Amino acid sequence: MTAPSIVILTGAGISAESGLGTFRDEGGLWAQHRIEDVATPEGFARNPQLVVDFYNARRTQAAEARPNAAHHALSRLQTEHAGPVTLVTQNVDDLHERGGSVDVIHMHGALNSALCSDCDHRWSAPLEMSVGQSCPNCDQPTARPDIVWFGEIPYQMDRIERALLDADIFVAIGTSGNVYPAAGFVQMARHVGAKTIEMNLDPGENVGLFDDIRSGKASDTVPAWVAELLAR
Ligand code: OAD
Repeated sequence: MTAPSIVILTGAGISAESGLGTFRDEGGLWAQHRIEDVATPEGFARNPQLVVDFYNARRTQAAEARPNAAHHALSRLQTEHAGPVTLVTQNVDDLHERGGSVDVIHMHGALNSALCSDCDHRWSAPLEMSVGQSCPNCDQPTARPDIVWFGEIPYQMDRIERALLDADIFVAIGTSGNVYPAAGFVQMARHVGAKTIEMNLDPGENVGLFDDIRSGKASDTVPAWVAELLAR
């Protein structure tokens, strides 16, 4: 029997125990900031300083955070599972990579990357970006955080869709199932007959589409599931 093809989608909940706030839990980021102000191209055009400050604060927090047992367990899965493991994250922190994972698909962008809104060049973001920072490629003052804002198209959708069409197991970890297209991945996986598993503290909006629901903290549920899968 060939090893199953696994697609994993992670959200803010996997980094919660590393000390990074989620978006929609009580007191989460979207209770403290308006999405329209800090996570849309229109907000950036209106008040770039506010947006740059918001992501500078998040970049500093992420740099100080450490990966937790859930990040490490997914890295173990990538190393030890004989079949393909595609790791897709909505998170903009780099805790998967620092937990040992490779080839992580950051569909909503990355805090440690800067993007030129003029020529699309990307480079390593400094800890503190500034408004009107120059692009090292075209020299225009058009640097922005490399984050996919509401109204923009998530990255690497072709690759994600190809992996989903080939999936035997789809797992969503620490995501509330509110934001599309990520919230629709479970439907695509079901469509091809994949087994679907949710690991979350509270049930996500799309919980009814999962075959197996494992409630609890990611640092408990994820290592337990990885150990179970690798022992088969
Ligand atoms: P949310 O804040 O919407 O959801 C976080 C989920 O994690 C919830 O379902 C919680 O129950 C769960 N959770 C919290 N602590 C947990 C823990 N210790 N272990 C396991 N689960 C836990 O975050 P996302 O679903 O990631 O996009 O949000 C999706 C997107 O919305 C983000 O990528 C961001 C946001 O707006 C952009 O900014 C474009």
